[in-house]
Amino acid sequence: MSSESMAGRMPAPESHDRLSGVSPVPGAAKPDPVLRASGVRRSFGGLTAVDVEHLEVQRGTITALIGPNGAGKSTLFNVLTGFDRMDSGVSAFQGRSLRGLSGHRVARRGLVRTFQLTKALTRLTVMENMLLAARGQTGERMVGAFAPWIWRGQEAANRERAEALLERFRLAHMRDEIAGSLSGGQRKLLEMARALMSEPTMIMLDEPMAGVNPVLVQSLLEHITSLRDEGVSVLFVEHDMDVIMGISDWIVVLAEGRVIAEGRPDDIRSNQQVIDAYLGTQHDEPGAGGAEEGR
Ligand SMILES: Nc1ncnc2c1ncn2[C@@H]1O[C@H](COP(=O)(O)OP(=O)(O)O)[C@@H](O)[C@H]1O
Ligand SMILES: [Mg+2]
Repeated sequence: MSSESMAGRMPAPESHDRLSGVSPVPGAAKPDPVLRASGVRRSFGGLTAVDVEHLEVQRGTITALIGPNGAGKSTLFNVLTGFDRMDSGVSAFQGRSLRGLSGHRVARRGLVRTFQLTKALTRLTVMENMLLAARGQTGERMVGAFAPWIWRGQEAANRERAEALLERFRLAHMRDEIAGSLSGGQRKLLEMARALMSEPTMIMLDEPMAGVNPVLVQSLLEHITSLRDEGVSVLFVEHDMDVIMGISDWIVVLAEGRVIAEGRPDDIRSNQQVIDAYLGTQHDEPGAGGAEEGR
């Protein structure tokens, strides 16, 4: 094994460069889509939260999903990752349909996500949270029952991976603290570290930066970029336009459940529809109830 692959530091895949030939229109086909969805609808009572005609995410890219509060971003995440059922529509991950799969099974396929409100188990330690995340993903009951020695090997490997991830997210010193004692920002980091325990093909991050202090935001951004450079596909929801424009290979804009635009940062910055629907009116705090400022 070469030291290069050992370190997971392969040169950036060309995948995100291959977006250069893609026209910036809603529903645009990508050369190598890792995730595809068509006709995805989800309503709550009379409210259509998501109504996405077609969406493809290019493998190996950082794709941002943006849009005003209530646009349907979290709902779209939920239905794509099996945490909620779409009313109609189809989706496929790496060419295989995700129809009817639970969140747990979607994660086993290599598509993991984090939540806008963190789901860390506050009464367990940081390390226990990490190990539990791994266990949920490896089918330990079978292995544990029939081949305990394999399970012990697996446990040691999980622990090693957990240590490395906690180190990477600057949480190693907190490994034996209960997760409930972490700051909001640290919980976000723990959530992302947990998601990475299963070495996913794709990670979907719902507002990973919200409530994280600026220094940690910087390191989170670096982690996201390194994940992409290691070949992981990243789809993330974020409000900070500087962050989005700086880090994204591609941006998808959702408004009232629909994809109203997608393209490279430059396409989005200059898109009048986006400016009207979102950028021009963006002065509410994420999740703060959308109070208008100054009037
Ligand atoms: N479980 C639910 N029950 C009823 N309405 C919901 C539910 N989840 C989301 N909604 C509604 O769907 C719309 C989209 O919400 P959401 O997906 O959370 O938007 P975003 O993440 O873009 O802010 C909102 O109007 C929200 O109130
Ligand atoms: Mg949301």
